[in-house]
Amino acid sequence: MAVKAYLFDSYGTLFDVYSVSRQCEEKYPEKGEQLSKDWRELQLQYAFLSQILQQYEPFDEITKKALMAALDRQKILYEEADAEELSKAYEKLEPFEETKKVLSALQDSTVMTFSNGTHGMLQPLIKHHGLESLLGIISADEIRQYKPSPAAYQYALDKLGLNKKEIVFVSSNQWDITGAASFGFQTVWINRKEEPTSHLGFVPDLVLTSLERLPEEKPPQ
Ligand code: LAC
Repeated sequence: MAVKAYLFDSYGTLFDVYSVSRQCEEKYPEKGEQLSKDWRELQLQYAFLSQILQQYEPFDEITKKALMAALDRQKILYEEADAEELSKAYEKLEPFEETKKVLSALQDSTVMTFSNGTHGMLQPLIKHHGLESLLGIISADEIRQYKPSPAAYQYALDKLGLNKKEIVFVSSNQWDITGAASFGFQTVWINRKEEPTSHLGFVPDLVLTSLERLPEEKPPQ
């Protein structure tokens, strides 16, 4: 079946989550890089925990609480208002250098981000980089079920109203590719860090090291 839609993960795939290390370093000198790594690790851990517990919390709240835990790890003294302010750095993450070019090259198809981020996080980010005409938004917050739960991918499929095989799911996060492949989407793993594949048995249809070649390289039909 011909590809009719591309669904992109946002954080780590279209936008560099670790670009927050600059704001972290400005606010907490010499702790920025480790803080941004701990922040992302705890953000995902909290999101998965809330999904498994079926105690949904929106990703902006999860992101703020993960930052507070990351600050605690570094034994940094802070006020909750500081974490609130620094969390807003998520609205100005740097896109990867190939992001705009590749999104532009795919406009004959439906091009959406499908993210655990809320609309309140994603809209300002996409607008800040002038991408709003190239990228629609589907947020897991609409159904209050996080990726990689099957319910989340089912929601995105229902929203697109297409056949699974007409959709290409693109993510740099192996947990997300595993979930999407398990659900039955065609998957492209953007393996930016050239990590080894998991042993979970869900193999991506295509592996690239950046988005650059996505328009040329179609997953095997
Ligand atoms: C996203 C993050 C969680 O869904 O990768 O965009």
